[in-house]
Amino acid sequence: MKGIILSGGHGTRLRPLTHTGPKQLIPIANKPVIEYAIEDLRDAGITEIGIILGTNMPNKIKDALGDGSKLGVNLTYIMQGEPKGLAHAAATAKDFVGKESFVMYLGDNILKSGIEEFVSEFDESDFSARILLQPVEDPRQFGVAELNDNDEVINLVEKPEHPKSNLALVGIYLFKNNIFDAISKIKPSWRGELEITDAIQQLIDEDLNVDSFVVEGWWKDTGKPEDVLDANQLILETLTTKIDGIIEENVKIKGKVQIGKNTIVKSGSVIKGPAIIGQNCEIKGYVGPYTSIGDETKLIESEIDSSIVIGNSIIRSDKRITESLLGQNSKILSDENTYPKGRSFVIGENSVIKL
Ligand code: TTP
Repeated sequence: MKGIILSGGHGTRLRPLTHTGPKQLIPIANKPVIEYAIEDLRDAGITEIGIILGTNMPNKIKDALGDGSKLGVNLTYIMQGEPKGLAHAAATAKDFVGKESFVMYLGDNILKSGIEEFVSEFDESDFSARILLQPVEDPRQFGVAELNDNDEVINLVEKPEHPKSNLALVGIYLFKNNIFDAISKIKPSWRGELEITDAIQQLIDEDLNVDSFVVEGWWKDTGKPEDVLDANQLILETLTTKIDGIIEENVKIKGKVQIGKNTIVKSGSVIKGPAIIGQNCEIKGYVGPYTSIGDETKLIESEIDSSIVIGNSIIRSDKRITESLLGQNSKILSDENTYPKGRSFVIGENSVIKL
């Protein structure tokens, strides 16, 4: 069995962060979100993985992941180019997949329980596809499945206006290679994309078997800033303590906390986990629960909680930073000693500032 991870897309909902790189590299607990997908495939025994690349700085993904050996997998890069839909992305992997069955994993999805139990026996089964489902509050933002009384999938619709169930498709799918025939028969949807839901519906319409599992435990699609912060919180819940940095006297560390090499936590600071701080940081102040601070960051006489600082940033703020997502090289500075007084911003598209 092989794996493909979809790592293209526009990532418009995560601008401005996606102006400087693909969303699959946004760190969750200081690790690019795509690495969770790679590790999940690897832990299910799938080590031949195709990474489908789009047009938004694909080389950054190649630079970050290399040949995959650091993660114990063998990566092949496949160019999709313009994002013409999930089924279009899958079709670009036809030669890579060959005759095998495969798992298609959206590169911005994280599944707590992992996929191992869903993968076992799929190869030998007579199912052409296996989908994973989870009840959600607002199914209109997702692909939605309708099941009959025997829990068989009878209908799939992408982002329906009037959903027939609350069962959203998790962004992880198992396919036999007859999905490529199905994809070749579908037409672009109203939004101009080749939809994977239409391709699976095509299998159902041809009386091929598609089964489904309702996933227990959490699943996160990190497509929007609030989802990225939620995923960070969920992953940090599972943190174990590891302190490699230098902790000065009179520092309080409570709960599960990781502190990277060469990071200095200055006297008087309080770190309340779960929280992770990367390498080469300087921390003076308060780092509260559910915070991930990336490498080379300075927190100066400031407080932060429930946030992600991607890295290389300076924070010197007279107000606590909370539920925030700060891109690389961000600066938040409260400076009492310069004129003119006032708030000064350099912010990108879709930025949100709450004062
Ligand atoms: P989406 O989040 O649905 O699409 P997007 O990345 O274009 O984001 P936005 O709506 O904010 O503009 O995509 C789900 C995943 O699939 C994501 O990891 C990107 C990937 N993808 C591709 O690789 N190729 C594609 O053609 C599409 C549509 C998505």
